[in-house]
Amino acid sequence: MLKGILNYAHYLLEGSVENGEKVVDATCGNGNDTLFLSRVVGENGHVYAFDIQEQAIANTRKKLISNEKTNVSLIHDSHENISDYIKNQEIGGAIFNLGYLPNSDKTVITKGGSTVTAVDKILSLLKKDGLIVLVVYHGHAGGKDEKESLLRYLLQLDQKKYTVLRYGFINQKNDPPFILAIQKR
Ligand SMILES: C[S@@+](CC[C@H](N)C(=O)[O-])C[C@H]1O[C@@H](n2cnc3c(N)ncnc32)[C@H](O)[C@@H]1O
Repeated sequence: MLKGILNYAHYLLEGSVENGEKVVDATCGNGNDTLFLSRVVGENGHVYAFDIQEQAIANTRKKLISNEKTNVSLIHDSHENISDYIKNQEIGGAIFNLGYLPNSDKTVITKGGSTVTAVDKILSLLKKDGLIVLVVYHGHAGGKDEKESLLRYLLQLDQKKYTVLRYGFINQKNDPPFILAIQKR
């Protein structure tokens, strides 16, 4: 359970996403979270996976093909446009793995404005007790601004409607990543 931040993000989602549900990977990158979600929701469920980079979509497609997964829609667009793709459907959960694509262009990063817009839109579609899990990397250029925008938005969410938790390492140096988890009540 304490192996790493991504394992912990998956552990949280596994506790609330059910087989057969529709879920969102807001930043598919190399496809690790997409593949994880695809397994959790099973053949009767569906994953909507977004990324603005062609390379990320291609990497994720390759990973899904080699794992024989067909329950995923790969969407080459910003997650802030999610309402163009998912309408009137309940979402069982979502993951955002923020920052830049590893081993790629470090200037193509997730940004506060679009991340907050996407989170806000997903919250309106999320099932009761559903979770949005955000893995927040903030050590790179632009990371601090995004972290601050996100925290500002989450701090004002009505506690009667949402529970927001922050999970983080307390003995790691150099801006360790942390998790923000929002549960709809
Ligand atoms: C840390 S990586 C994601 C890693 C990925 N989840 C995985 O399992 O490999 C962040 C990704 O967010 C993407 N991204 C940046 N801004 C975005 C946006 N507005 N909408 C969707 N994806 C975005 C980047 O292209 C990058 O691939």
